[in-house]
Amino acid sequence: MKVLGLETSCDETGLAIFDSDHLAEGKNGLLGQVLYSQIELHATYGGVVPELASRDHIRKLVPLLDELLKLCQISKDEIDAIAFTKGPGLIGALMTGALFGRSLAYGLGVPAIGVHHMEGHLLSPLLGDNPPRFPFVSLLVSGGHTLLVAAYGIGEYEILGESIDDAAGECFDKAAKMLGLPYPGGPNVASLAETGDANAYDLPRPMLHKGLDFSFSGMKTAVHNLIKDTEGSDTDAKVRADIAASFQHAVVDTLVKKCVKALKQTGMSQLVIAGGVSANLHLRESLEVELAKINATVHYAPLELCTDNGAMIAYAGYQRLKAGQADDLAVSCVPRWSLSELPALV
Ligand code: KG4
Ligand code: ZN
Repeated sequence: MKVLGLETSCDETGLAIFDSDHLAEGKNGLLGQVLYSQIELHATYGGVVPELASRDHIRKLVPLLDELLKLCQISKDEIDAIAFTKGPGLIGALMTGALFGRSLAYGLGVPAIGVHHMEGHLLSPLLGDNPPRFPFVSLLVSGGHTLLVAAYGIGEYEILGESIDDAAGECFDKAAKMLGLPYPGGPNVASLAETGDANAYDLPRPMLHKGLDFSFSGMKTAVHNLIKDTEGSDTDAKVRADIAASFQHAVVDTLVKKCVKALKQTGMSQLVIAGGVSANLHLRESLEVELAKINATVHYAPLELCTDNGAMIAYAGYQRLKAGQADDLAVSCVPRWSLSELPALV
């Protein structure tokens, strides 16, 4: 089954084809993917402007589909089903992919299914070289979400903890802005941190000893105060790198400790990390070290599938279509949608 996946929940237009027959040949099933990032469009504003995002998705969807079909060397008629991101995300942006996908599926006479964006992220490590097996704990860290989830099977998710305020990626983005780094902040903070001393400043690790929830909003105040306190320092570039490294270390340390706690609490031995922040190499390395100490393993998607992409939507859609699920002709997007509301596969 060839499933076209469409991701348009925020500022990336991602399209991919997942082919289950390709999977049978010992491959991960991905025939090809194309991705257009709107970073440049939003950079001037320091963050995503929803209306501009929707308009740009509309401009890019048709040419990207043509490019994808060429890349995969297939024609439109060979598409067996279409999966699109139904939520959570920006309503206008979601509507573009959903309407495009639903209409195209109708025109082609094939089924369509709306996919939960975070389920796409959660399942994306199954497309990696070292896929986990259910059950596992998943740390979902993106620009809009920070979630610890016990995953017992597809659609069988128990939320163990979540951020009570800012998401981890959002916190990276805000720290980047304060450090004068361009949007999106995560990768830029990470690269500035490479030259800094992670122990230069002692930043807070919020809610470390309080269950499995997170709180990151205090971090931005801490970074703000640190920048103010060190202003005018002779070695400005060095100080900024030290702040970036200390900040990254504090966020990663908090995430790692909560993951270890979640594994111990559930008795599970596999951790999956997914979402944009899972591309952070310091996070990956710290988890490898700390999880080895408790005989647990960490699994993640290939780097290019950590941030938003169409492949994870095609894959999650395939799993549900294979189980006989599909959406009807009505298109309804869900900007706020909890993973725990998803139906299990029967
Ligand atoms: O999953 P994603 O692409 O989009 C959402 O669904 O939100 O995640 C984007 C987030 C942004 O906040 C970005 O700054 C962060 O992931 N991010 C990173 C890194 N790469 C992306 N944060 C830390 N380190 C990175 N290397
Ligand atoms: Zn995402």
